[in-house]
Amino acid sequence: MSDEAATKPKRKIRHLGILTGGGDCPGLNAVIRGAVLTAAREGVRVTGVRNAFAGLLHKSYIQLEPDTVEDLLQRGGTYLGSSNRDNPFAYPMTIDGQQRVVDVSDTIISNFREAGLDGLIAVGGDGTLAITYGLSQKGLPAICVPKTIDNDLLATDVTFGFDTAVGTATEAIDRIRTTAESHGRLMVVEVMGRNAGWIALFCGLSGGADVILLPEIPFSMEAIAAKLREDRASGKRFSIIVVAEGAHLKGGDVVVRALVNDPTEPRRLGGVGNLVGQKLEEMTGIETRVTILGHIQRGGTPSTYDRNLSTRFGVHAALNAIAGNFGHLVALKHGGIALVPLGEAAKGQRLVPLDSDFIRVGRSVGISFGDEE
Ligand code: F6P
Repeated sequence: MSDEAATKPKRKIRHLGILTGGGDCPGLNAVIRGAVLTAAREGVRVTGVRNAFAGLLHKSYIQLEPDTVEDLLQRGGTYLGSSNRDNPFAYPMTIDGQQRVVDVSDTIISNFREAGLDGLIAVGGDGTLAITYGLSQKGLPAICVPKTIDNDLLATDVTFGFDTAVGTATEAIDRIRTTAESHGRLMVVEVMGRNAGWIALFCGLSGGADVILLPEIPFSMEAIAAKLREDRASGKRFSIIVVAEGAHLKGGDVVVRALVNDPTEPRRLGGVGNLVGQKLEEMTGIETRVTILGHIQRGGTPSTYDRNLSTRFGVHAALNAIAGNFGHLVALKHGGIALVPLGEAAKGQRLVPLDSDFIRVGRSVGISFGDEE
């Protein structure tokens, strides 16, 4: 039986659930608003599930009316709460005083039915997609919406949250630039993105960085030091390096800041900026400072682009759920909305291709990617 056939509803859709899973990002609330307003106009009720799949396990719900979501368009974060630790197929629980990992997927499906829900809209990244695909294979009628500031989902041209994160990081680099100039320093700015370099590449280009370090292009300290010396020799007074948290030395490994109970990515990356900054100061003698932008990139008001993309995703998720097109991800393909089967969407990560025009353009304007011999 195909995924779609397995989840095609036999009755009219009257009641949808919606949840947000994984790390939050700007635009989640705009998706919720788009879905709720659309469903209301079709006479369909929407129940919000709190804190991702944990809400279905603990029956933690909130009724979402047009009035409830009216002011959500501009608001960052998620009104419903989120979690990247509550995988129903490997759920951490304390049983008889012992920490155990148990499969609670059947309970989640029976709670979903008990709540009178006809379909679920799950908004999330690769972890949420994989979980929802697993649940849909067990009969849960679900449709997914892709989010993440990392922009690393293969099934969609772009995820919402990315544009806002890049805007925030660019503004930070602009500010760092003025103080770098005043003191003639080397400033290293570390940005998020996990194993994908999209945020670093885009804000590095738009912020006028001298060096951009991406997970996709392992770097050498000698190459970066040579570039800095060359720039100083030609009269440049200050330098900016943007480093993705997942960037690493040729033949080296990523820098891990913490290990967490996250089924998709237990390693929390972070700290490579400090290593790069310290080493370059030693090698070049240039006074150096390091800024790790961290969760600033995930917070705050969504950009215009993200508000509109999120609204489109929310509206199309609701319309497709009401039409019974479950087992799909609502994606953006060549500027238009497309449905991608969940089984396909849950596979693979979208990394920066080495032949990306953004890399080519960067090299043409003199940016080093730390890989020169
Ligand atoms: O996936 C989004 C993201 O912000 C990554 O860029 C980052 O590595 C990770 O989440 C941080 O996760 P947490 O909020 O659990 O520290």
